[in-house]
Order: sequence, then C-alpha cells, then structure tokens
Amino acid sequence: MKIIVTGGAGFLGSRLIRALLARGASIPGLPAFDAIVSVDLAPCPVQDARVSSVVGDIADPALLARVVTADTAAIYHLAAVVSGQAEAEFEVGMRVNLDGTRALLDAARATGAAPRFVFASSLAVFGGPMPAVVPEDLALLPQSSYGAQKAIGELLVNDYARKGFVDGRVCRLPTIVVRPGKPNAAASSFASGIIREPLGGQPANCPVPQETRMWLSSPNAVIDNLLHAIAVDGARLEGRRTLNLPGISVTVADMLASLERVGGAAARALVSHEHEERIARIVCSWPGDFDVSRPLALGFTRDGDFDSVVRQYRDEFAG
Ligand SMILES: NC(=O)c1ccc[n+]([C@@H]2O[C@H](COP(=O)([O-])OP(=O)(O)OC[C@H]3O[C@@H](n4cnc5c(N)ncnc54)[C@H](O)[C@@H]3O)[C@@H](O)[C@H]2O)c1
Repeated sequence: MKIIVTGGAGFLGSRLIRALLARGASIPGLPAFDAIVSVDLAPCPVQDARVSSVVGDIADPALLARVVTADTAAIYHLAAVVSGQAEAEFEVGMRVNLDGTRALLDAARATGAAPRFVFASSLAVFGGPMPAVVPEDLALLPQSSYGAQKAIGELLVNDYARKGFVDGRVCRLPTIVVRPGKPNAAASSFASGIIREPLGGQPANCPVPQETRMWLSSPNAVIDNLLHAIAVDGARLEGRRTLNLPGISVTVADMLASLERVGGAAARALVSHEHEERIARIVCSWPGDFDVSRPLALGFTRDGDFDSVVRQYRDEFAG
C-alpha cells in the first residue's frame, strides 16, 4: 500500500514525508504502507528507497489516473499555489487549487477504495466581520481568490466523504512560522521573514501594523497534527470533517518581542516597518484566534508559546 503526498517537494510536504518515514508503516486505522509517492511540479528532495517522485501537474487527470491506484491507503493533498500568487494569477489559482483538487478527488473516487484524504486548507477561508475568537461554525467569507478556492475544496472534500468516495479530513492550517529558506509568494511570508532574516543577521520589513493578531503554528506542531489527522478515527469526527488546527494567537508586536528575547536587541533592530497595503489588506482580513476545543479534545496539539517557536527555528537552522 502507498501514501500519496501532493506538494511533496514543498516546505510542508517534504517535512511530512520525512515524518511519515520516521513514524514507520503502522498508523492507526490505516493498512501498513511500504511506499510514499510525491506528486509535485518538482522532484521530492527526500532521498529514501521508499519514496518515489512523480513530477507533473496536479490538474492533469491522466497523470492522476496513473498515480492514484487502488493500492492507495491515504492521500495528503498539499499541492497548491499560495495566496499571493493565486491573487496575482487568477487562472493559475483556479486551475491548480480548484480544478486540481477536484481532479484528485475524482481520481480517489475512481479507485473505489475510499482512501483517507487529508486536505490542507487555510484560515484564509474566513473574512469579513468576525468575533475576536472564531467559533468552529462561523460562515466562510474569503477575501482572496486563494481563500475562495480553499473554501470550495473544503466543501468538495466534505461531499466526497459524505458520498463515501473518500474518508476525508480538512485541516485548516494556521500560518506556519518560521519557514526556512527564501521568502515565498504567500501574503503571510513576512511573518517568517521578520524572524528568519534578523536571526541570520539580515534586515526584514514588517508590512502590517504591529497590533495585527496572527494565528500561528511551528512546522513541527503542524506536521504532528497532519500525522494525527490521518490517524484519527473518522467516527469521532461525527460528520464534521473540517477542523481548525490548533495554533497560538499572537500579535506582531508579541512576535517581535520573542525575536528580541531569543535573538537579542540587535536582531530586533533589523526589522523595519514600512506599511504595504497589498499585504496588509489580505493578512488583516484573517482571524487571529480560534475556539479549538473540539480539535484539542480529538488529540490535536499546539506550540507552548512563540518564544519556543523562534527557538525551534534558531536551533534547527540558525545555529
Ligand atoms: N505554510 C503555511 O503557512 C500554510 C498555511 C495554510 C495552508 N497551507 C497549505 O499547505 C499546503 C502546503 O503549503 P507549503 O507551505 O508547503 O507550500 P509550498 O509552496 O512550499 O508547497 C506547495 C507545493 O505545491 C507544488 N505545486 C504547485 N502547483 C502545482 C501543480 N500544478 N501540480 C503539482 N504540484 C504543484 C509546488 O511545486 C510546491 O512544491 C498548501 O496547500 C498551502 O495552501 C500552508
């Protein structure tokens, strides 16, 4: 049996594949797997005999029909174009994030095996007037094409699950911080940049007001939760297959205070504050805090505080 990870060459996909390999073949409720297949426009960087790379477009049904076969125990759907790109390139966002998700669900349906299906959604499905703490049943009002595409994907996963075509779980991911490497096209890219760049001795700009409240998770916490998402008993979801994954709620000012505590005043001084309306408009429309009592009761977890998130990055990447 195999597990398919779309977006397996990406930041979270490649970390997830490493974590699946470390976890071993037994995940509660899943048949043992002996192979992991990454489907991505780029080859998966994980070197392991159990991992193979299919390089291609998630929106290509012929490619999916070859890859998504009856021996598929589970699918993690992480391939996407991220928020900034989906906003700037409308057709690309619709094709990859919407058409690609439907094509993948149809390929899963065609196997007749109802594989477990974990869809990485985003808090960008929310927008408009919101209470300070967002409840699980708040109506979706995305303020970006990316958010709209994720919201439609959520509905599709829920309906394919209701029909018994997949055993679906939707994980709305917090913003993941600190992302190593270069800035990406996500509107939230600065949230990693204002920690990563100063810890590396480089300047960074914060384009949003310091009182902006963000819902964040470290890479380690979100990978633990994605592993849990595939293992959790579907009956315990009681038909409510969409989960706001736990995060921590911090303001940008809190984040910069953590940077100073962990990296020192010199690191904090490398952050400038030039407002960028294009970024602020998207990021400030996202909720900053959630009621996550149900996912916590289901065994999902979160980081202790933001200082530990900064330390996690420093210890792994910044020496
Ligand atoms: N990182 C975050 O903060 C965050 C927050 C919320 C949701 N998410 C979601 O989690 C998932 C993974 O995010 P990430 O941060 O690892 O992003 P990423 O950009 O690092 O990875 C996405 C991968 O998808 C691939 N991809 C793009 N278009 C494709 C196509 N047409 N066919 C096949 N592959 C394609 C890319 O090559 C890339 O490797 C995405 O669905 C994203 O929307 C991420």
